[in-house]
Amino acid sequence: MKILILNGPNLNLLGRREPTIYGNLTFDEFFESLKKKYADITLDYFQSNIEGELIDKLHEVGFNYQGIILNAGAYTHTSVAIGDAVKGIETPVVEVHISNVHAREDFRHISYIAPNAKGVIAGFGLQSYKLALESFL
Ligand code: DQA
Repeated sequence: MKILILNGPNLNLLGRREPTIYGNLTFDEFFESLKKKYADITLDYFQSNIEGELIDKLHEVGFNYQGIILNAGAYTHTSVAIGDAVKGIETPVVEVHISNVHAREDFRHISYIAPNAKGVIAGFGLQSYKLALESFL
């Protein structure tokens, strides 16, 4: 089984960025522990701050992976293009957020991804990714 974790803008700063909201762990540290725990799965990771690169990656894996775990960061709330890409591919996408976006500013309550996602997981810290992964097993 091949699963991709796809992170959008500013998520490269995890561990340093607003730690009271996003925690102290870097994504690389978390990803290593996830790979160890799910050693029988091919787990890939890609991060970009560039909208088009996220779309290219969705196109690249979206017809041959079994699942995509997508945290599009702020693009979640703005990007019709990423929403369209999720709609256009075959691989099911689970939208994840580290924080509970519904308990934050109003603009974070909108998602262009959710209508085309298999499901949405938000508010469990980095465990949101683990829960999303479990949903594919
Ligand atoms: C986020 C929530 C978004 O609103 C924010 O722009 C992010 C991170 C989260 O994981 O909680 O960059 O997607």
